[in-house]
Amino acid sequence: MSSVWIDLAYLVAVILFVLGLKGLTHPRTAVRGNLMGAAAMLLAVVVTLFDQQIVGFWLIILGVIVGSGIGAVLATRIAMTAMPQLVALFNGFGGGASVLVAGAALAAGDSVTAKDVIIATAASGFIGAVTFSGSLVAFAKLQELDFIEGISIPYQQWVNAGAAAVCLFLGLLLVLHPEYDTLYWLMAILALGLGVSLVISIGGADMPVVIALLNSYSGLAASATGFVLSNNVLIVAGSLVGASGLILTRIMCDAMNRSLANVLFGTLAPSGGGGESADEVYANVKSTSADEVAMLLDVAQRVVIVPGYGMAVAQAQHTVSDLADALIDRQVRVEFGIHPVAGRMPGHMNVLLAEADVPYDLLREMDDINPTMGQVDVAIVLGANDVVNPLARTDPNSPIAGMPIIDVDKARTVIVIKRSLSPGFAGIPNPLFAAENTLMLFGDGRAAVSDILKAVKEG
Ligand code: TAP
Repeated sequence: MSSVWIDLAYLVAVILFVLGLKGLTHPRTAVRGNLMGAAAMLLAVVVTLFDQQIVGFWLIILGVIVGSGIGAVLATRIAMTAMPQLVALFNGFGGGASVLVAGAALAAGDSVTAKDVIIATAASGFIGAVTFSGSLVAFAKLQELDFIEGISIPYQQWVNAGAAAVCLFLGLLLVLHPEYDTLYWLMAILALGLGVSLVISIGGADMPVVIALLNSYSGLAASATGFVLSNNVLIVAGSLVGASGLILTRIMCDAMNRSLANVLFGTLAPSGGGGESADEVYANVKSTSADEVAMLLDVAQRVVIVPGYGMAVAQAQHTVSDLADALIDRQVRVEFGIHPVAGRMPGHMNVLLAEADVPYDLLREMDDINPTMGQVDVAIVLGANDVVNPLARTDPNSPIAGMPIIDVDKARTVIVIKRSLSPGFAGIPNPLFAAENTLMLFGDGRAAVSDILKAVKEG
């Protein structure tokens, strides 16, 4: 293929990437955006393989079939609740690939000519290795693998600073003496250790920020590799991932009240207890029944449903959509209050509710719904916990202190649907469950909503 056609194909891929990202910003256009991004990646990969002429046509077809097969199996088999782990793995593989590709280019002697290329090689190896090991640790933590729990690194901040400084020094030496590619691999091995040390102590509610940040790192590593290989589409695609990951990190930080500096320097607080014990907090919990909830809904004019991780576990999105329809048919104003970090991945609740055909205009973001929570007759908290925990406002020592929450406690009556009084992701008790205006409906989310729906219809 002539270089003009290759550049044109890359340009089309880049435009598709940008349009795809734009599409992903709204649920209505997200599926189309995703397809555009996938098509752009396919185009970029196939054109690159043709350009390099390393593999033949049939091998490319075989690669596409095998890759698509693995992707299809992963996409259909992985539970929605395990999506963050999958994203962590993808980030890690991206970082690992950058280390290997840049290292291979160095070993082949391709990059020893220009200083800027060797700097890109060092950057690719460093960022890629941190991303790889950090993502594997994030995966193990999210997957709740036993061996990872309880591991701590003494003097961790000093270890991190020391490892980063030595990596920088090795990178500098490599730039001065690119003929010694052992320096590259030494730096990459040390950076692997740094990735582990940066992520290992982070726990609880801070993990989504880490995943978003590692996503950004994987993009930066890919972009640096693009400079090593002089591949424009890799530079642009990596930059897009790097920038969008950083923007997502920022959004996550705001949603969880963490500063970006906290994340960058690995000083995120692990989740843990604090304040009153669960027994003290839950001394006055009142439970209710589906019939009683139906009676409350019968006289309600405005209902806000706040879904959380438990809705995903119970797969209650279709049933709650039916309940919303039934209430709307009875002239009740129904809205869904969506917290930015409800569930286990960005946009988790939006995806589930879209799957259940809940109209987008019923979905209200936290900042939008909070000022009006005082006028809500019934707030139904469906499998949410941390994102409605008032301790975030009242206890400065809580691991979620300062995290903005959906103010369901301001509604006239709050119904909390969950199976027990167990804590959520942050591992802390929730005084909302014992509040004066709260009634607990204990049970699996889908079964409980289904019982309420039945009672509403019968009533
Ligand atoms: P959580 O605080 O994790 O609480 C979920 C609740 O759902 C649990 O207390 C659990 O109580 C209940 N539950 C589980 N299975 C259920 C079922 N079958 N039926 C009914 N309830 C069920 O969830 P949240 O309020 O959505 O908050 C999200 C948390 O995850 C935040 O701390 C956030 O920082 C963190 N996080 C978020 C993300 C992103 S990006 N969204 C990623 C990783 C972590 P029972 O066991 O008593 O039923």
